[in-house]
Order: sequence, then structure tokens, then C-alpha cells
Amino acid sequence: MKGLILAAGRGTRLRPLTHTRPKPVIRVAGRPILHYAVENLLQAGIREVGVVVSPETHKDIAESLRHFPKPFRPTYILQEEPQGLAHAVQVAQGWLGETPFVLYLGDNLFQRGIQDFLAPFQKGVSAVIALAEVEDPRQFGVAVVEDGRVRRLLEKPQNPPSRLAVAGVYVFTPEVHEVIATLKPSARGEYEITDAIQALVDQGKTVLGVQVQGWWKDTGRPEDLLDANRLLLEALEPRLEGEVTGSRLVGRVVVEKGASVRNSTLIGPVHVAEGARVEEAYLGPFTSVGPYAVVRKAEVEYAILEDEAQVEEVHVRLQESILGVKAEVRGKNGLPRTHRLILGDLSRAELA
Ligand code: TTP
Repeated sequence: MKGLILAAGRGTRLRPLTHTRPKPVIRVAGRPILHYAVENLLQAGIREVGVVVSPETHKDIAESLRHFPKPFRPTYILQEEPQGLAHAVQVAQGWLGETPFVLYLGDNLFQRGIQDFLAPFQKGVSAVIALAEVEDPRQFGVAVVEDGRVRRLLEKPQNPPSRLAVAGVYVFTPEVHEVIATLKPSARGEYEITDAIQALVDQGKTVLGVQVQGWWKDTGRPEDLLDANRLLLEALEPRLEGEVTGSRLVGRVVVEKGASVRNSTLIGPVHVAEGARVEEAYLGPFTSVGPYAVVRKAEVEYAILEDEAQVEEVHVRLQESILGVKAEVRGKNGLPRTHRLILGDLSRAELA
């Protein structure tokens, strides 16, 4: 069994954050989204992992995976244009060969890993797809399932026939390559993996739908990133390895090695990454402060601060905010209000 992670998308819904870096390298609860995918594949015993990248995402994805904390050597496969999930599988066909494989969308998070989808993948089964019940399935692939077998799949339907969204993990036999070779682009111009799966179903092949246990998150929009950050921080194990002085820490707080927290109040769950500096600040629940970021004389909660972001002397509370790499927020005489900011990498905002 091989693993194929897709990381060649444009991430348009996450702009401006994705103007400069691909979505899977954005950190949630201190770790790049992509690392959770790799972790789940390794945990399922899958050692051979390919990562589909684009000319734009290749460098950042490879750089992020170089920092994966365990020995891990992926194979990079280039998709020149993001022409759809099935197209991404097609460009990887040479590397995949005649091996069954797990297709894993690099921007998806699964609380309980992927074992549940691998277990039913037995002889006679052509594919297993992960499904999750959602409130509004119109922005997803939607499945109709009878007795565990997928009967019909629709991509982003206006009138969804069920509330079962196709989540970002699929297990395939090499049979899928034959159907992908026959696909035509969809109305939105992409080679859809849902069309490939529908073709397998139409040929009478067994395609199983397995419901996700625990939470699942597709991190397409900024609010999804903040929610993923929250869900992951919910499970935070408190740990203080950095320097903490004159501060009040309540609940589950992690301060990584090389980080410092001085004269501040932290109400967990809060993650402060390596080398970060928190001074005379308030960090509220569900906040992740990235490596070498600075929060000084400021209040931040329900937020993600990426590497080297800075919030200094801002006397308004930042809430539901995401600051990209090296983004800066400053301001001396702020109004007593709450601000919501999504700032791309290297951006600067002055709040007066
Ligand atoms: P999507 O979320 O469908 O696309 P995207 O990441 O480009 O985002 P947006 O819709 O906001 O523009 O993609 C899911 C995952 O699959 C994501 O990690 C990118 C990856 N992908 C590819 O690798 N190749 C492709 O051709 C496409 C469409 C996506």
C-alpha cells in the first residue's frame, strides 16, 4: 500500500494567506496541516508516500516536510496545473504502479487517523471512501449509500440527495487508473475524482462508504483553519519547556523549548511554539503562537499567529484572527474594541 498526498492546489479560498505559501504548510496547533496527514499515513503503516506538488507549491511543501520530526522521505510528483483530483492521480500513475493506494487531500484533517478506512479494504473491494455527515453538503462531493455501498456520487450538487460529504481520504486499487483515463473534464473544467468513483460504481465494482468517526476538517476557508486549530488544541497535553516568569497560566498551555512568557496571562488551551516571545500580554483560549512570533503588550484570542508574526502594543483585542508569516500588527492608542484580522504573509497593519 502506498500513500499519495495532494498538495498542488491554488488555495483560492484562503487568500491572502495562500498568495505566498500553499495551504498545507499553514500551521494549526503549532504544526503544518501536512504533517498531520503524513503522521496518519505512517501510523497506518504506510511508508511509501508520494506528494503531488505544483511548480508553485513544490519548494514550500518540500521545506515543510524537511522539518517532519521523524525519518521520512517522500517522493515528489509534479502536477503542472491543478486540473482536478483525478488528474493529480493520473500524473502519479507511473509512481503508483500496480499498487493499491490511499489518496489523501493534503489540506484535510482527521481526528482519528485513517485506519477505519483501510480495514474494510479487502479482496473484491475496488475503493473505500471516507464520508462525513455535514449540515450543508452543497460545497462537497455528496454520496448516496445503500448497505454500506456507494450507489451515486455528485460533485457540489445544488440539491444534495444526502448529507454525506466525501471527506478527503480514499483507498483505491489500481483499477481506478483505467477509469481516470476515460474521464472528461467536468463543467468547472476539472477531472473529478467523484466522476472516477462513479464510473467504478457504474461498472458494478464494489465501492464502500465508511463514515468518519471523530471530527474531520477540510481547511478550505479561514474559519475552517480557526476551527481546526480549536479542535486540535482541545486535545492539548499541557507542557512547559520554555521560560515562564511572572505569568498566570490557566488550563492547558504548552510553551515549547526556547519560547518565553513574561508577565502575561494565558488562558488555555494555548500553544506557544519554539522561540516565540509573549510579554505583558493576554492570550485567550484557542490561540496558537507560531515559532519566533512575538506578542507584546497585546491581547489575542481564538487566533493563529504564523512564524515570526508580531503583535505589539495593540490595545485592542485581536480575535478570530490569522496572521501570516512575518505579518505585523501594531498600534498605540487603540479603541477598546475587538478586531478580526486575516493578514497575509509579510503584511503590516497599524491600528490607531
Ligand atoms: P481543493 O480544496 O479542492 O482546491 P484548492 O486547494 O486549490 O483550494 P481552492 O478551492 O480554495 O482554490 O483541493 C484539495 C486538495 O487537493 C488541496 O490540498 C490541493 C490538492 N489539489 C491538487 O493537488 N491538485 C489539483 O488539481 C487540485 C484541484 C487540488
